[in-house]
Amino acid sequence: MKIAIGCDHVAVELKNDVIQHLKKRDFEVIDCGTYTEERTNYPEFAHKVCEKIQNNEVKYGVLICGTGIGMSIAANKHSGIRAVACSDTFSAKASKQHNDSNVLCFGARVVGKELAFDIVDSFLNAEYQGGRHQIRIDMLNELDI
Ligand code: RB5
Repeated sequence: MKIAIGCDHVAVELKNDVIQHLKKRDFEVIDCGTYTEERTNYPEFAHKVCEKIQNNEVKYGVLICGTGIGMSIAANKHSGIRAVACSDTFSAKASKQHNDSNVLCFGARVVGKELAFDIVDSFLNAEYQGGRHQIRIDMLNELDI
């Protein structure tokens, strides 16, 4: 499976660590940048990742900034994107199972490397459960105006 990943300048090191982690798990990773610690702006990289999902190049994205909050706000501006800012594994798993989340965001200033790996694994290993949750996803889609 292919995953798109992006970050801003405060999260380059953690993004590179997460890429290595994903590759070890045999995911193909599209690195949408940023690539250096030169100051940049998170909406640019949220957009690069989200458009890959919208174009069906990838099913899931990972976005990392200082907190994960700016990235999630920017990602959720995109039609069809359900982005979640998670600093714990339970929320990452539940967001996939109940909310059919397709973009995982977290903060390099909030979580350490090992917790980040666990959050990513919880998100990717979980399955959307459908059923009673689908009516809510349909309602979200209706709000996608
Ligand atoms: C950059 O200083 C910081 O604001 C950004 O990485 C992010 O935390 C925004 O939500």
